[in-house]
Amino acid sequence: MATLKAVRGTRDLLPPETELWNRIETTARRVFARYNFGEIRTPVFEDTALFARSVGEETDIVSKEMYTWEDRARAQSEKTQSLTLRPENTAGVVRAYIEHGLGESGQLQKLYYIGPQFRRERPQKGRYRQFWQIGAEVIGPPSSGSESPLRDAEVLEMLAALLEELGITGWTLELNSVGSSADRATYNDVLRAALVQVQGKMCGDCQRRAVTNPLRVLDCKVPEDQPIIEKLPKIGDSLGEDSKAHFAAVLAALDAVGVPYMLNQRLVRGLDYYTRTTFEFTHGGLGAQNALLGGGRYDGLSEAIGGPKAPGIGFAICLDRLVLTLQAADPVRKAAPPQVDAYIAPIGESLNAAGLVLARELRQSGLRVELGDGSFRLKKSFEAADKVARNIVILGEDELRSDILTVKDFATGTQSKVPRAELAAYFAKLPGE
Ligand code: HAM
Repeated sequence: MATLKAVRGTRDLLPPETELWNRIETTARRVFARYNFGEIRTPVFEDTALFARSVGEETDIVSKEMYTWEDRARAQSEKTQSLTLRPENTAGVVRAYIEHGLGESGQLQKLYYIGPQFRRERPQKGRYRQFWQIGAEVIGPPSSGSESPLRDAEVLEMLAALLEELGITGWTLELNSVGSSADRATYNDVLRAALVQVQGKMCGDCQRRAVTNPLRVLDCKVPEDQPIIEKLPKIGDSLGEDSKAHFAAVLAALDAVGVPYMLNQRLVRGLDYYTRTTFEFTHGGLGAQNALLGGGRYDGLSEAIGGPKAPGIGFAICLDRLVLTLQAADPVRKAAPPQVDAYIAPIGESLNAAGLVLARELRQSGLRVELGDGSFRLKKSFEAADKVARNIVILGEDELRSDILTVKDFATGTQSKVPRAELAAYFAKLPGE
């Protein structure tokens, strides 16, 4: 029978690597808390219309990459419903913001999330069909200050602080402004006019987008189209005075706080909801998929999906790519499994239960313990224990009776007799990892 495997583009995450994942998540939660963000968890699947209306019908994500299915009706009275595994989390957060009336308090909402996203892309290093994002959104009614360029700068400064705390250096922040929705409409007209001359030489997707949503032509990855795209009018020239002033204020605040950036006029990002500031942090160590994270403003998104006016800005970091970056910088981390404090070896089946009792005692005092069983046969078992633990505790009939245990430190080879009551203190005193 053919063996079953994880589906293409999905992966199992195993220890010890998962420890690095957890460390990153813990660091992110700690940093977000300092900036007063709270956690939101939205469902993994949503109504397909949510993504079509927010991310946009003509984007690669919605037109090619979503996992969508017709959910069967359970009763005659029920209709079938088109559902989609979330390809990103901003749409879900804004839906939740509207659904729970989070804007009614008048307060700025600062929400973060950590969870899997799904896109049917061609898998390669750093690109998966199920991947994890750590993201955050700042959203609120205009009276809450949600439109202020200070919010953009604060979010970018928080990202720089998070990367620093994770020990990731060598990133580049690329920054652009795609303007207000009115500026984008102007730019789309300019682009449409420019594309009339050249679209005949471009790929099929570009030819269609030149008519339906010209901005999306800038997402094209076809190598032959790149020289044509390079010569198209730039979005910066279509920005109105308000958008220019907003962007200038973002840059001034970043300069003041010392976050370095590079301007990139082609950075329009592959999602339709963006307005004004857009950004990506790239990292050279990642190879072709070099975007560590992406984000931007979405001042019209709430209204586009039927909500009140609620400008916002946010980002999503790829957790898988953070792990790749940290592993590339420190390959040792990939190999070394952490060792437990003690391996308890009951000598004989009759001592199994006593072993469990001792393990419970030590674990309750906070030690990491591995429990062997009565099949422990000295030489081979010693070698196996040596791999997982720093010390071994021999539990034979004599030890059980006398309450004095034989402990061997694998690193030094020293053997000691330790009273049972002092065992936890004895391990706590030894140098740890
Ligand atoms: P995005 O640029 O589509 O934006 O995705 C954010 C990040 O997720 C990317 O920079 C990349 O690191 C990672 N990513 C995307 N697709 C894959 C994949 N197939 N495999 C691995 N990593 C991937 C968003 O998702 C927006 N929701 C971000 C945002 C939040 N904008 C405002 N708020």
